[in-house]
Amino acid sequence: MIPDEVVELVAQQADIVAIIGEHVRLKKTGSVWRGPCPFHQGTNANFSVMPRGGYTCFVCGEKGSVFTFVQKRLGMSFVEAVKYVGEKCGVEVKETERKRDGPDPREPMWELQATVGEYFSRVLWDAPGGAAAREYLASRDVTRPVAERFGLGFAPREVGAMRAHLNGLGYDDARLLAAGLLVRRDETEEPRPRFRDRLMFPIHDVSAHVVGFGGRLLGPGEPKYLNSSDSEIFQKGKLLYNLQNARNPIRRDERVILVEGYFDALRLVAAGIECVVAPMGTALTEQQADLLTKYSRHVFLLYDSDGPGQKATFRAADVLLAKGLEVRVVTLPEGEDPDTFVRKQGREAVDKLVEGALDVFDRKVQLLERAGWFADLQHKRRALDRLLPTIRAASDPVTRDLYLARAAQAAGIAREVLLSELHTVRRGSGARATATRKVERPSAGRAEAGPDDMWPDAPPPEAEPVPTGPYKSEVEQGGAEQTLLRVLLTQPVWQDQIIEELGKIEAEESPGGESDERDALGEDAPGVLRDPIYRAIYEATLRHGADAPPEVIAEELWPHAVRVYEDLRGEKEAVVDAKKSIADGLRMLRGRSVEARIRSLESLLALASTDEKDRINVAIKRLTDEKRALGVQSWGSVRRRR
Ligand code: CTP
Ligand code: MN
Repeated sequence: MIPDEVVELVAQQADIVAIIGEHVRLKKTGSVWRGPCPFHQGTNANFSVMPRGGYTCFVCGEKGSVFTFVQKRLGMSFVEAVKYVGEKCGVEVKETERKRDGPDPREPMWELQATVGEYFSRVLWDAPGGAAAREYLASRDVTRPVAERFGLGFAPREVGAMRAHLNGLGYDDARLLAAGLLVRRDETEEPRPRFRDRLMFPIHDVSAHVVGFGGRLLGPGEPKYLNSSDSEIFQKGKLLYNLQNARNPIRRDERVILVEGYFDALRLVAAGIECVVAPMGTALTEQQADLLTKYSRHVFLLYDSDGPGQKATFRAADVLLAKGLEVRVVTLPEGEDPDTFVRKQGREAVDKLVEGALDVFDRKVQLLERAGWFADLQHKRRALDRLLPTIRAASDPVTRDLYLARAAQAAGIAREVLLSELHTVRRGSGARATATRKVERPSAGRAEAGPDDMWPDAPPPEAEPVPTGPYKSEVEQGGAEQTLLRVLLTQPVWQDQIIEELGKIEAEESPGGESDERDALGEDAPGVLRDPIYRAIYEATLRHGADAPPEVIAEELWPHAVRVYEDLRGEKEAVVDAKKSIADGLRMLRGRSVEARIRSLESLLALASTDEKDRINVAIKRLTDEKRALGVQSWGSVRRRR
C-alpha cells in the first residue's frame, strides 16, 4: 500500500507530457499536446495530453492518468507505476508495511532456497562435476547468458557435496530436511539429497522468491523431471513457471502464452517472446487459471503437437474458459514442440503462428471436421459429446452463445436441439464417452504417473503413499472385471479364451471398426475394462503377452496399480470354479456393453430424422431383447436432468 497523500503528491509533481512524450511524439497545440495514439496505433494526432490532467484518444476512447498510461504501456502494476513516476519526478515512494507484526515468516525458507540455487549455479559453471551439464546445455543451444537469466544450476552427483556446503554456511541438517533438500526414510538413515545429477531450474513465486526447483536428468532415465516436494512455499498447483518475469510483459502485450515445459518457456524467452509461462508438469489447475486472470484475459495455448499435448491443450482450455478467459490454440507442425520449433524457425515463425491461432472452439470443430465427424449421425453424436462440455465450460455468456451457434452450424443441427442437449447430461452416450473422464490413465512412456497428475513427481527416496487393503473398484461391474482378470493372471489355460471373448465385446462396442488408439481430439478409447487400474493391467498384459514375466508388466504400471496387480496374481486360491467365473464375468460385461450401445443409440434419437429414428428404434429393440436374454439387470438411469 502506498499512502494516498503520496500518490497525490506524485500525480501533482509528475510531468505527464514528458513521461508520455517518451513513448509518443507529441506536439503542442494550444493548451494541450497532441500526437498519434499508441493504443490503437493511430497515425493522426487524435491523442491528446493535458499538462495538468490525463490523456484521451478521440478515436479509440482510451483515457486515463499518468499512472494508467504507465501501467498499460509498460505493463506495470499500480504500485510499480507510482514508484516509476515518483522516481522520475523526485518524490520518494515508500509502501507502508501491511503487517506491523514483523517480517514474513516464510523469509528464512525463501532465503535457503535462494542460497541453494546459487550453490547449484556455482556447481554448474565452476565445478568440474558441472562439465556434463555445461555440455548438455551447449548441445541444446542454450547459451550461458540465457541459462543465467533463468538461474539454471546443476545438482552434483556426490551425495555429500551440497550438505557440506550448506552446513558450512550455517544451515543445519534439520533445516535442510525440513526444506526437503535432504531426505531420508527414517531417523537412522543418513540424509541424502533429493536432487542428484540433475540440471536445476529454480522456480519462483510471482514476487520472485525462489520457492523450489525442477530438476532434469541429463540423460535418459526416470523420472525425467523431479520437482521439489510441496511445502508451505512451494505448491505446484498454484505456481506458474516464469510468471515473475512475464507478468509485466503480459500486462503490456495483453496476452499470455502458455507452454508445457520449462525448456519451452526458456527457449521462447531467449528468442524474445517474453509473455510466456508454464505449469509445473501437472494439468493446469483452477488456481493457476485464477492467477492468470489477474494479468490478461487472452490466453494462447502453445503445447506439443503430439497426442498427449493435444489432450492437455483441450483440458487446459476448459479450465480457462470456466474462468471467463478467451482461449486460443496455437498449432505447431507435426512432431514439433515449442522448443524445437523456435530453435529451427526463429521468433517470426512463432509470431506468425500466434497471429493465426484459432479460438479453441473453432480448433475443436476444425479437427472434428477434418476427421469427418460431422458426416454421419453416429459421428455427429460423438462430435457433439466433445463440443458440449466445452460450451458448458465457458462461463462467459456471450462466448457460450457463440459456441452454441458454431456447433449448430457445423453439425447442421437446429440451435434449439443443441440447447436442450446442453442441459442434458448423458451417462455414457457413445460407447467411449464414459470411462475416460473418470480417472486419467497415464499414457505409456510417461509411466510413473498416477491418476491425477500428468507427471506427478516420482517421490524417491520417500515412498509414494499407496493405499493399503483390498482394492475396491468404483466402476459398476468392477467385480466382474476383477474376477476375469484374476483368472487371466492365475490360470494360464484360460488366457486365450478370456482375451478372445473380451476382444469380441470390445469390437462390438466400436462398430465403425474404429479401433484407433486416439480419436479426433486425442482422447483414449475406454476399452473393454472400465476400471482404470484393471484396464491398465489388462492392456499391459495384452501388449506383452499373458506369459510375459510379471516384472515386465509391473514396469508399465504406476505404484498403486502394481500393488493391485500383485494382489490379483497371488489370489489363485480365490478362483474356485474358473469356468463359471469366466462365464459369469463375460455375461456381465456383455450385458454392460449391450446397455452402453442402447444408450448410445438412444442418444442419437434427438438428432435423427424421422427415417433414421425408425431404424434406430428397431436396433434398440433388438439390443433390448439381447440384453434380456443375457439376464443382466440394468443399472442406473439413462439420463439425468441438470
Ligand atoms: N514433467 C514432469 N515430470 C516428467 C516429465 C515432464 O514434471 N517426468 C513436466 C516438466 O515440468 C516439463 C513438462 O512436464 O517441463 C513438459 O514435459 P516435457 O515436454 O517432457 O519436457 P520439456 O520441458 O519439454 O523438456 P525437454 O525439452 O528436455 O524434453
Ligand atoms: Mn517438451
